[in-house]
Amino acid sequence: MSEVDKYSEIVFMVSKNVEQKYQDIIPKLNSVRGDVTKISLVDGESLKNIRNYQKIMRVLVERQVSRRSLLIYAGGGTVGDLAGYIASTYKRGIDMIALPTTLLAQVDSAVGGKNGINFSGVKNVIGSFYNPRMILADTRFLRKLDLSIVRDGISEIIKYGAVCDHTIMSMLDSQMDIHDLMNGDSLTRIISKCIRTKGDIVASDYYDEKGERNVLNFGHTIAHGIESASKNEVTHGNAVATGMLAEAYIGEKMGITGREVRLKIQEVIGKFSISLAPLNSLGLQNMIKYISNDKKASDGHVSMVIPEEIGKSQKIRASVKDIFSYMKSFTDSYNLGN
Ligand SMILES: NC(=O)c1ccc[n+]([C@@H]2O[C@H](COP(=O)([O-])OP(=O)(O)OC[C@H]3O[C@@H](n4cnc5c(N)ncnc54)[C@H](O)[C@@H]3O)[C@@H](O)[C@H]2O)c1
Repeated sequence: MSEVDKYSEIVFMVSKNVEQKYQDIIPKLNSVRGDVTKISLVDGESLKNIRNYQKIMRVLVERQVSRRSLLIYAGGGTVGDLAGYIASTYKRGIDMIALPTTLLAQVDSAVGGKNGINFSGVKNVIGSFYNPRMILADTRFLRKLDLSIVRDGISEIIKYGAVCDHTIMSMLDSQMDIHDLMNGDSLTRIISKCIRTKGDIVASDYYDEKGERNVLNFGHTIAHGIESASKNEVTHGNAVATGMLAEAYIGEKMGITGREVRLKIQEVIGKFSISLAPLNSLGLQNMIKYISNDKKASDGHVSMVIPEEIGKSQKIRASVKDIFSYMKSFTDSYNLGN
């Protein structure tokens, strides 16, 4: 950690859960410098709110943390999103080092500069673009992750493979199952490939102005509808997997997506034992209502990214009415009842 020597002080924001589970690998910052402000956090979506933002800001102000200090965070996407917003706004920005500790955070949320907190019932409505100085994705942090949380990350990896880079899909093809992936030699290569893939997309449109980042939303239009309709009972990974399969199905019906693309997505979802959401019991009407209120919807139409072939996609707009009938036929053909 010699990179930290040039800073006057260190603020260390860490997930309490991660701290308890990984005492052996959490950086011992006190041995590097004496002046460390440690802030332990109960993570999860409810962390990302304005009260917690204020509480942490108050600590930094009371401790007179200077502009030449460094913020280091260790945690999943929720800690990263809050820490990024703190680092970008405290004294108009202090340097940050990211230690993402979930698979999703390592392959996705720690990369790309977006951060944010939830406000007035709207997710990530307050936030900024701010890159860390360094991201240290250490796979030793992934050893004690619940498999359901691992699957949230795997769904995002499948996304990169399906619409961004076919070599990621080939890397997933060569895994036997979730245990093989998490314990095998390829994990580090897969994570770094995903980081580079997202990094390249983000570099072409850092401020999300040209639509280049849209490809990263594959599966997420339907997934957000599922998450909202289920009041977040369906995990993010299961919602995204269902969304990717449904959006590939819609693409196939529209004559854009090859059948083999949907079947490949279906195969990898099955290989990693990711469950599909029970769309019938969530209520298709209910789900479509959330999709049509999404920020990507206007004039009764919804935008989505549809795969053409593995690793290649296009953006389409479809009417809410058509999406409803495609989703009805998708739900029936996959027997997504209760
Ligand atoms: N900024 C972005 O670009 C971006 C992109 C995608 C998602 N996100 C955000 O990321 C968040 C989700 O992130 P997440 O899935 O990492 O959730 P999370 O931060 O809530 O972590 C999930 C769970 O894993 C536990 N955990 C964390 N690290 C662990 C470890 N090493 N071992 C064992 N348990 C561990 C946590 O305590 C928590 O219970 C959402 O708020 C989402 O909005 C942001």
